[in-house]
Amino acid sequence: MESIGSVALVTGASSGIGKAIAEQYVREGTAVVLADLDDVLGHQVEQELRDMGGAVKYVRCDVSSPDDNERAVEAAVREFGRLDYAVNNAGIAGAGAPTADYPIDAWQRVIDVNLSGAFYGMRAQIRAMLAGGGGAIVNVSSILGQVGYAGAPAYVAAKHGLVGLTKATALDYAAQGIRVNAVGPGFIETPMIANVTQTDAIKAAIVAQHPIGRLGQAHEVAELVCFLTSSKASFITGSYYAVDGGFLAR
Ligand SMILES: NC(=O)c1ccc[n+]([C@@H]2O[C@H](COP(=O)([O-])OP(=O)(O)OC[C@H]3O[C@@H](n4cnc5c(N)ncnc54)[C@H](O)[C@@H]3O)[C@@H](O)[C@H]2O)c1
Repeated sequence: MESIGSVALVTGASSGIGKAIAEQYVREGTAVVLADLDDVLGHQVEQELRDMGGAVKYVRCDVSSPDDNERAVEAAVREFGRLDYAVNNAGIAGAGAPTADYPIDAWQRVIDVNLSGAFYGMRAQIRAMLAGGGGAIVNVSSILGQVGYAGAPAYVAAKHGLVGLTKATALDYAAQGIRVNAVGPGFIETPMIANVTQTDAIKAAIVAQHPIGRLGQAHEVAELVCFLTSSKASFITGSYYAVDGGFLAR
């Protein structure tokens, strides 16, 4: 085992926001376990980050599986000795349909990944953090964890639920040195939103919902996440922080 600084686990680290968070940790000298179910991209990201000098390990993890979450935490402890930070970022957009037409299997998968995934993750992560004397967790919610959005009932429900789960868990562990917060990105240019921004007209309509006048970039979310897990955020727990170009301020 190498001698390293802090140790982080990031789910959904093969792409988009999760990849940017892992990069930011590597720049800060934090070792990172990259957890995802896209093995091809995951191994590519692992190599890129090693080329940057990072101590990183990719592990296959479907966050909707409690056992996979346990194994991801075990990998952090095995590879790097402990777990200090966890970012429950893996998520899917799900189907687009109003509630009465929303396919039940699509509902179940969105809840399993976007909400239960963070619950299963935190169960394993918190046990390892308690063993190490404390830690910090960030759950990646959304602007849609605060407001509704037509045609996305499962996503909106899961992301609202994740904010509630964050608050409840923060209270459970505040006195034991584990801080838990949620971040709520606005529309961020990642593969997740590629299908909704494929025409200029739709993209312009989405941009118009962000007073800053553009979509966000993954690294702008990563900055907030890494701040919240750092010791600079030592008095912050149980909160939701938007990183949304003013979307929720309207
Ligand atoms: N992009 C946006 O506009 C936006 C806005 C608000 C919130 N978010 C949230 O940010 C998070 C990251 O999204 P992104 O934009 O980077 O998307 P993305 O599609 O680029 O990346 C998501 C990653 O999660 C992985 N993933 C999907 N299901 C998984 C599972 N069951 N187990 C493990 N990994 C899984 C994917 O393989 C992928 O690597 C998500 O939770 C998303 O809901 C995104």
